[in-house]
Amino acid sequence: MGIFLIFIAGINKSLRLLLLILAFSMLTSSCSNKDNKKSASEAIKSGYYQEQYRPQFHFSPEAHWMNDPNGLVYFEGEYHLFYQYYPDSTVWGPMHWGHAVSKDLIHWEHLPVALYPDSLGYIFSGSAVVDATNTSGFGSDGKTPMVAIFTYHNPDLEKKGSKVFQNQGIAFSNDKGRTWTKYSGNPVLKNPGIRDFRDPKMFWYSKTKKWELIMAVNDRVHIYSSPDMKEWTLESEFGMGIGAHGGVWECPDLFPLKIAGSDITKWIMLVSINPGGPNSGSATQYFIGDFDGNKFVPDDTDVRWLDWGRDNYAGVTWSNIPEADGRRIFIGWMSDWKYATVVPTTAWRSASTIPRELSLIHENGHYALASNHVREFEDLWKASDTVNIKPVSFTGEKEISSGLIPLMQSQLIFDFKLSDIRVDTLGIILENNLKERFIIGYSSIKKQFYTDRRASGSSGFSNEFAGISIAPYVPGKNLKLNLLVDASSVELFVDDGRLVMTNLVFPTEKFTRLNIFSKGGTGLLNKAEFHGIERIWP
Ligand code: FRU
Repeated sequence: MGIFLIFIAGINKSLRLLLLILAFSMLTSSCSNKDNKKSASEAIKSGYYQEQYRPQFHFSPEAHWMNDPNGLVYFEGEYHLFYQYYPDSTVWGPMHWGHAVSKDLIHWEHLPVALYPDSLGYIFSGSAVVDATNTSGFGSDGKTPMVAIFTYHNPDLEKKGSKVFQNQGIAFSNDKGRTWTKYSGNPVLKNPGIRDFRDPKMFWYSKTKKWELIMAVNDRVHIYSSPDMKEWTLESEFGMGIGAHGGVWECPDLFPLKIAGSDITKWIMLVSINPGGPNSGSATQYFIGDFDGNKFVPDDTDVRWLDWGRDNYAGVTWSNIPEADGRRIFIGWMSDWKYATVVPTTAWRSASTIPRELSLIHENGHYALASNHVREFEDLWKASDTVNIKPVSFTGEKEISSGLIPLMQSQLIFDFKLSDIRVDTLGIILENNLKERFIIGYSSIKKQFYTDRRASGSSGFSNEFAGISIAPYVPGKNLKLNLLVDASSVELFVDDGRLVMTNLVFPTEKFTRLNIFSKGGTGLLNKAEFHGIERIWP
C-alpha cells in the first residue's frame, strides 16, 4: 500500500481518485461481499425500496453502484436515463451503462444494462441523440436510430503507463434503446495523447447541419464537429484561465436557452469539477455566452455555480425534448466523490437529483440560471397530507409541524418576510427524537445561506461529510424556500431556483419535527405549505 501511495502521488488528481477507489474496493471486497449478502437479506426484510435511507421519490438503482447520469435523451414518449453503473458491487468498478426509462421524469422503469465493457475498455460517461435524418447510416428498415457516444476507458493501457487510455466510441439502437450495437469502427475519436480525455456530450447544430461534441480534456473542454458521428474535427478549445480550476473538468454540456417571453437566447456551458467546488468536493460550474458552431465565447469571467450544496455532480441535460415542450431538463448525480463510496447505504449506492428545469434569467444586468424541480413532481402531492400554515412570528426556535406529514417524504414551501424586519439569521431545522438535526439558515448580515449537517446523524463514515456549506445570496423583500426532503437528501431551491443547495443527510432515525428559528430579532413567516409526497416505487 505504501509503494502504491508513492506511485499515485505522481499522477493527476482524478486518476489518483479512481485508483484509490479501486484499491479501497479491493481491500474491502470481502467486506463488501458480506455487505451484499447483508443488503440482500435487508432488502427482503424491509421490502422493495424500503431500506433505511432508500430514496422514495428519487431515482436510485435497485442494487449496487451508480454515479453520473449518461445518455439523457427523449424518444417516442420516453425519457431515457442511462447511468454509470457497476453491477457487481456497491463501490465504483468496471463501468457499464445502467438504464431506466420514464414517461413523466418521475416514475422510472428499470431496464437491463445497455452497454457492457469490452476489449476497448470500461464504458465511461457520455450522451445519446436521436439521429432523425440517419446521418450515421445506422437506421435500418427506415427506422430512426438512437446513437450513444461514450468514453472507452482502457484499464490495461492505463496500468501500462500509457497516456492514451481514454477514447470515444459509439453504439446505436433501432428498438427504442432496448438493445445496443457497438460500431465496428470504434473508437471514432482517438486520444491525441492526453490523460483525461472523456465525457462527450453530442448535439445537432442545425445552422451547419453537423453534430457538435463538447468533451472534458484535463482542465478545459474541446469542441469537435462531425457530419456523421464517425469522423470528428477539432473546432476549438475553451477554459484556459477562466472559471474554477480546483480540480479536473468533467462531464460538460452545451446548449442554447431562451429567456422566457423574450427573443434573447444565450448558450450555456455546464462543466463539472472535481474537487474544487464552492464548499469543497465535487460541483458543477457554468458559463453563459455565445456559440457559433465553432467557438464558445463567454460574456464574462464570473465563476457561477449551478448548485452550492455538496451533492450534485456530473449533471447534464436531456436531448431531443420536443420543441412544443421547449424545456431544458437537467439531472445530476446526488453525491460527492469525497465520500460517495462510503455513505451508509447497503444494497445500493447513490441516487440522482430530482429532474430540474433550467431557465435563463436576466436581473441587475446579469444573466444567471435558475433551477427548479420539474412541474411533474407536483403530481406526487398527497391530497390527504397537505398542511397550510398561517402567518406567524417567531423568536428563537419554534416548532411548527410535528407529526402532521411524514417529513422525510415531503415538500416544504416557506415564505418569510424580510423587508421591515430586524433579524440577523432565520431558518429551518429538521430534527428527530435523538436531537439529530439538519439546519438551513439565512444570515441577513452576511448575506449568506448555510446548511449545517454537523449533528445531522450518521457522518463517521468520512471526515469530509459533516460540516457547514455556505452560499452567498442577496434576497428581495421575501425569501421563498422550497425544500424536497427524501429519506437521505434535502434539496433546497430559493426564490424559484435562483439559489440551489443539494445535500445528503443520514439521520439515525427519521426527522419528525420541523422548527423555524430566528437569531438577533423576530422573524415573520408569511405562509407555508407542506405536502406529503407519494413514493414512486411499486
Ligand atoms: C465523473 C466521472 C467521469 C467519468 C466517470 C467514470 O464523475 O469521473 O469523468 O467518465 O465518472 O465513472
